[in-house]
Amino acid sequence: MSIVKISIGSRSPPSPPPNGPRHRRVARFGCVSDPLVVVTGVHKHFGDLHVLNDINLTVDRGEVVVVIGPSGSGKSTLCRAINRLETIDAGTISIDGVPLPEEGRALARLRADVGMVFQSFNLFAHETILDNVTLGPIKVRQQSRAAAEQKARDLLERVGVADQADKYPANLSGGQQQRVAIARSLAMDPKVMLFDEPTSALDPEMITEVLDVMVGLAEDGMTMIVVTHEMGFARKAAGRVVFMADGQLVEEGTPDQFFTRPTTTRAREFLGKILTH
Ligand SMILES: Nc1ncnc2c1ncn2[C@@H]1O[C@H](COP(=O)(O)OP(=O)(O)O)[C@@H](O)[C@H]1O
Ligand SMILES: [Mg+2]
Repeated sequence: MSIVKISIGSRSPPSPPPNGPRHRRVARFGCVSDPLVVVTGVHKHFGDLHVLNDINLTVDRGEVVVVIGPSGSGKSTLCRAINRLETIDAGTISIDGVPLPEEGRALARLRADVGMVFQSFNLFAHETILDNVTLGPIKVRQQSRAAAEQKARDLLERVGVADQADKYPANLSGGQQQRVAIARSLAMDPKVMLFDEPTSALDPEMITEVLDVMVGLAEDGMTMIVVTHEMGFARKAAGRVVFMADGQLVEEGTPDQFFTRPTTTRAREFLGKILTH
């Protein structure tokens, strides 16, 4: 079952809500659903390794889904497939009703609809923080420099690093760099944000500042797919947790269900391990 998170938070976002006006349809059984990312029957092999094995996942507009699972289970490959950084062998992936094209300009446009934040921040080392955030909108979205800079400053403010705008990435802490990476993705007005273990390369004291920004995004209604083992984030922000093992989605539930009453042996074993470390 998919759970729709409707944001009624007290925050007022500095820029328009990331997903624009909500167009929801009422599905059968009276459940409100508005699929934004639809992954159907997806398979992917690396040689003999069946790294995605019949993945089916629907993420509704405004929904936050946490993907959790052992190392090597295919979580990053799934994110990369959704962003078309990786091709798939079978199945379909559509974003907002449009199947991902194989290549070309249509792909570039659709890819820009999907923001991605990786474990390593991947900022451009020789550009200032401000330029890191304005480059995409100017080059890909053809925005004027003035408009792109205004928006970049708003976004840097939103992630709490406005005072770092003229510095270079190396002058910032890891947590600050990751928040800039989030601002850079948001500057492209993505319909959905993918986060692949965004805090796993950070020192513990910096994890919270990045997670706080992500919780704020979730509260503002951003559609998010987040690979993370941070249970605090999942409980605070996610409507649903999906557990992945050996290339398959093995189990899903609300954070409370999953963390306190996992139903499969594999999920129980996995949780046993991460809880005792
Ligand atoms: N480009 C690649 N070529 C070959 N094998 C790969 C490649 N990328 C990932 N794999 C393998 O696919 C499996 C799933 O990897 P990945 O999606 O990164 O898992 P996770 O993110 O859950 O740790 C792993 O066994 C990994 O070694
Ligand atoms: Mg990974």
